[in-house]
Formats: sequence, C-alpha cells, structure tokens
Amino acid sequence: MLPPIGCIPIIITLYGSGNNKCVEEINDVALNFNKKLNFTTENLVKMLSGLNLVFFDLYQPLYELVTKPSNYGFFEARKGCCASGLVEVGFTCNRKSIGTCANASEYVFWDSLHPTQATNKFLIDRLIPAIISLVYN
Ligand SMILES: *[C@@H]1O[C@H](CO)[C@@H](O)[C@H](O)[C@H]1NC(C)=O
Ligand SMILES: *[C@@H]1O[C@H](CO)[C@@H](O)[C@H](O)[C@H]1NC(C)=O
Repeated sequence: MLPPIGCIPIIITLYGSGNNKCVEEINDVALNFNKKLNFTTENLVKMLSGLNLVFFDLYQPLYELVTKPSNYGFFEARKGCCASGLVEVGFTCNRKSIGTCANASEYVFWDSLHPTQATNKFLIDRLIPAIISLVYN
C-alpha cells in the first residue's frame, strides 16, 4: 500500500516544476501499485479460505488530508514543520532548526518527508473502524 507519494513536500520540491501541487504523474504510479495489491489481496482471500487479509486504503484519506488540510483542522500541507519544510529530512531537522514551526500538530508533515504525529493519528482514527470490523466479523 503506497501513500500519495506525489504529495510529499520534497517530491513537490523536486518534481513539481514550481507548482505547489501534488505531482499527479507520481501519484498515478502509487495508485496503480495499490490497485494491483488490492487485486492480489482479493485473489489470495478467495484461494485461501480462512485467511483474514484486508486491504486498507490509506491513499485516499491521506490524499484528502493533503489536498484539503483545513477541512480537518490542519493548516499546512505543502511544507513540513521543520526548518523550511521543503527539503530538510531527518537528522538535519530538530525542534531548534531555524524556521521550525511552533505547533507541529497543525502540519501534515514534520519534515519534507515524514508525517507528523497529528497525521498518524488522523490515519489511525480512520483505520480503527476497519480493524474492528475485521476482528469481529
Ligand atoms: C479493491 O477492489 C474491489 C474490486 O475488485 C473494490 O470493490 C474495492 O473498493 C477495492 N478496494 C480499495 C481499497 O480500493
Ligand atoms: C496546536 O494546534 C492545535 C490544532 O490547531 C490546537 O488544538 C492546539 O491547542 C495548539 N497547541 C498550541 C500549543 O498552540
């Protein structure tokens, strides 16, 4: 299951041709992969009765969040909280980096690659009902 890779800040910085928009050509690659994975999952479940395997769609909720952050109480999706938020990743980033935002929970991304805890919570809140229905079915 791949996320909307074309919406990750560093990917937009590198491949966005100056548009601050998701790179849909790259998202298409992820969507295609996910479609095949879903197909494979469904076939496995048909072949192996008793196998509880479910394809969780995280692509759509994350895409929705990145394209309409304010609908979900987020403020910024194009830039990560850390430093400029456009290129820095991992160890070059910490709370004291110049430019780091005051409140990461309003940001979809912590740095130009990784989601914030607020984003992880957003996704988990959407996964839990699916997991519960899987366990109690
Ligand atoms: C997986 O494919 C089936 C059709 O084969 C479709 O009904 C279902 O919505 C797909 N699931 C996801 C998460 O895309
Ligand atoms: C950070 O932002 C969230 C969401 O807007 C808000 O609920 C929280 O109170 C803020 N925290 C601080 C320390 O400003």
